[in-house]
Formats: sequence, C-alpha cells, structure tokens
Amino acid sequence: MKVLVVGSGAREHALVRGLLRDPGVTETVAAPGNAGMAADVTTHPLDVTDPAAIARLAATLGVDLVVVGAEGPLVLGAADAVRAAGIACFGPSAAAAQLEGSKAFAKDVMAAAGVPTSQARICTTLQQCEDAFDDLGAPYVVKDDGLAGGKGVLVTDDWPAAVAHAAACLAKPQGRVVVEEFLPGPEVSLFCLTDGVTVVPLQPAQDFKRLHDGDLGPNTGGMGAYSPLDWAPADLVDEVVTRVVRPTVEELARRGTPFCGVVYAGLALTPRGLRVIEFNARFGDPETQVVLARLRSPLGALLYAAATGTLAAVPEPEWSEQVAVCVVVAAANYPETPRTGDEVGGLGAAGRTPGATVLHAGTAHAGDKVVSVGGRVLSVVGTGPDLAAARAAAYAAVGEIDLPGSQHRTDIARSAELGEVRVPPAPLG
Ligand code: AMP
Ligand code: GLY
Repeated sequence: MKVLVVGSGAREHALVRGLLRDPGVTETVAAPGNAGMAADVTTHPLDVTDPAAIARLAATLGVDLVVVGAEGPLVLGAADAVRAAGIACFGPSAAAAQLEGSKAFAKDVMAAAGVPTSQARICTTLQQCEDAFDDLGAPYVVKDDGLAGGKGVLVTDDWPAAVAHAAACLAKPQGRVVVEEFLPGPEVSLFCLTDGVTVVPLQPAQDFKRLHDGDLGPNTGGMGAYSPLDWAPADLVDEVVTRVVRPTVEELARRGTPFCGVVYAGLALTPRGLRVIEFNARFGDPETQVVLARLRSPLGALLYAAATGTLAAVPEPEWSEQVAVCVVVAAANYPETPRTGDEVGGLGAAGRTPGATVLHAGTAHAGDKVVSVGGRVLSVVGTGPDLAAARAAAYAAVGEIDLPGSQHRTDIARSAELGEVRVPPAPLG
C-alpha cells in the first residue's frame, strides 16, 4: 500500500513515522511536508487549499490512500475530491467536517444525538452576546463560530474583554459568535477512528492549550501533550464512545453525511459529569504525537480500514506500556505574529537524546540549514516507563534545541507527574 500524507505539521510528521513503522505500507509520501518529513520520505509541493490539486497529486503518484491531516482542506472538500478520483481517503467529506467547521452545527448535532455538552447561545449581534453573558454568567466563554486554528476562543472573567472579542468575531463576514457555559474540570482529548458506522477509540491524551506555564496566557494550537492519563476513570473511554462519539456518528449518518476519518472529542470532566467542549474532524496536534508514539498496531491498516468501511474487521489497537510526553517548541511571537527565518540549531543532539524523538512542524531547508517557517516549529516527544522519565527525556532534548527567541512550556504533564490532577467525583445516575 502506498500512502500520501497531506499537511506540514508535527501531527503529519507523526503520521508519516507511524506509517513507516507499518510493514503493510510499502511507500509513504508527503505533501507539502517540512524539513523533517523530507528527511524521512519524498515530499511534493502542494497547495492544500486546492482539493482538485490534492486529488491530482494522489492520482499522479498512484497512491492507495490519502490521509488528510488538517481541518482546513477537509472543510474545503479535500476528501470529496480524492474519493471522486476513485482513491481511498482518510478524512470526512466537507459536509461531515462541519462538525468542526461550525460550532453551531456541532451543537445542533449534539442536541439531536443527546450528547452532553455545555449550554450555548448562538449570537449574530453584540446585544445577543451581552444577554448570553448575563444568562450564563462568568467566566465568559466566547467562541468564533468558524475555524480559527484553536485561537478563536476567549475564556475570561473580564466583561469588556469578552465584549471586545465578541465584537471582533462579529465583524468578520458572516461573523457568528457562540457564547457558552463555562465547564470546570480537567480536559481530555479522545480520538476515535470511524468508517461512518464502526467506532474504534484510540488512547486518551491531555493537551496544554495556553501559551505559558500554569495555563496562563493566550490560547494556542497546543503547546504540549501526554498520554496515557493515569488519573482518568477506568471507564472513561467506554463512556465517551457510548455517550458521545457513537451517537454523533449515528446522527451524522442519519443526516446523510456519514463521517469517515477521526472524530476528535475534546471533553471536560466536570462535577456534573462528562461534557463535550468541542469536536474536531481530524487528529489533534500535539496529542497525535503522543498517542501514535504508543500505538503498537499497524497504523496504515487502521486508517485504510476507516477509509474503506472495513473497520469492524480490524483487530483492536494495541498499546505500548510506555508513557509519552510532547513539548512544543514555538517561534518568537507565537501565536500572534510568529517570527520566521530563524535557524534551528541543535537538531542532531536533540535527536540523539535517549528516549526522545524530534518531529518537525514549521521548518524548511534553506541551503544546508534548517530554518523556522511557522508558529509551532518542533514537537519533541519523550517516552519512558513513567511520566517522570518521559518528561525528562523530552526536556533534555528540548534543552539541546537552539532557536533564537523560541518559547516552550516547562510544565507539560507536571501536575500529572505529581499526582495533582483531580477528577471531580462522578454524579449519581
Ligand atoms: P476550543 O477551540 O473550543 O477547544 O477551545 C479551546 C480551549 O478553550 C479549550 O481547550 C478549553 O481549554 C477552553 N474552553 C473552550 N470552551 C470552554 C468551556 N465551555 N468551558 C471551559 N473552557 C472552555
Ligand atoms: N490540540 C488541539 C487541536 O488539535 O485542536
């Protein structure tokens, strides 16, 4: 089987590495890729915002499967175009990708499917937003309805800041704002593979969305992750599949827009029980880097089965006992206006750190140098028998990286290592 991975982030680099470990995959290629992916496989230039170009490249290369990494191309119809060309694609249609593309659509699907989520008001005027802030109370959760790369969400106690963010979102063409009830409690990301009928959960992970230590600073695409979650209730995965993902997949099929690919459930474990914070229609970044580091089953076989309606026939995924921690190294000024063009040094030493793997995101070759070309530049993954060892490996490798002005969090997985993550007791019934 020959597989094309579409994208250029560390998530896609992790997918490439996973496919290279699958003996059933004879060739992996990537487009457009980055400096790290280009060192592992052949990469091809590609405009990922052009679905027809993706389908043409897949046909020209004669691949058996296309794996689309990011939500942008999916919402634009990348999977529809690839499937129309007669090639299997891991990723939902544009219609099903609305599960991520529109928070209002996701809320509607959850309401129809009886999936537990926050109360929300969909607003098209500032007055409606202010009424919703009054109704739902502080902290105010203000979300841009459309895609915003994880940066469209503001959670604040500050009324003027909430109003200003709402106004900025409304000012966009067709701007809509979702105001939500605040959900307290630890967050979990669970990825479930689906072919539209069968649902196969992977292992849960936790993501660190804020830029600075202590969960301070602005929301980002994600600054780090770890898996597994030793503090999570033993029945968490079953509960999420039964109460959240299966009903959602069934509701999408009932609407005539079956979902094929990965449903990413972003969840809060609140004192009132499990609640969905958001759905994404693709693998999470950086959670994928830690989840795939622990996958022992052939990745290509799972993704191909999801893409071709045969997931029920594939054995359940097997997992390593190891723990994985990912620390993101971001450019200066990320997430606002990341500085690019800095040389990324120390990659060799970082890569030789025992227990560590360096995955590339916003990197490119400039002559014989590697330079930064994006906000999140590297994902450094450490593995080990426990969180302390995995964190030590990841941070030792991060310490070798020399990127002027770079930013990373120093507390990824620290409260879990210290046993300080508290799950509220489950409510009765
Ligand atoms: P989203 O893009 O919807 O995942 O939101 C980004 C981050 O904002 C989430 O991972 C949470 O940390 C936070 N967030 C979003 N919605 C809520 C909510 N209703 N209650 C509490 N935190 C939230
Ligand atoms: N890690 C968050 C995301 O992928 O959206």
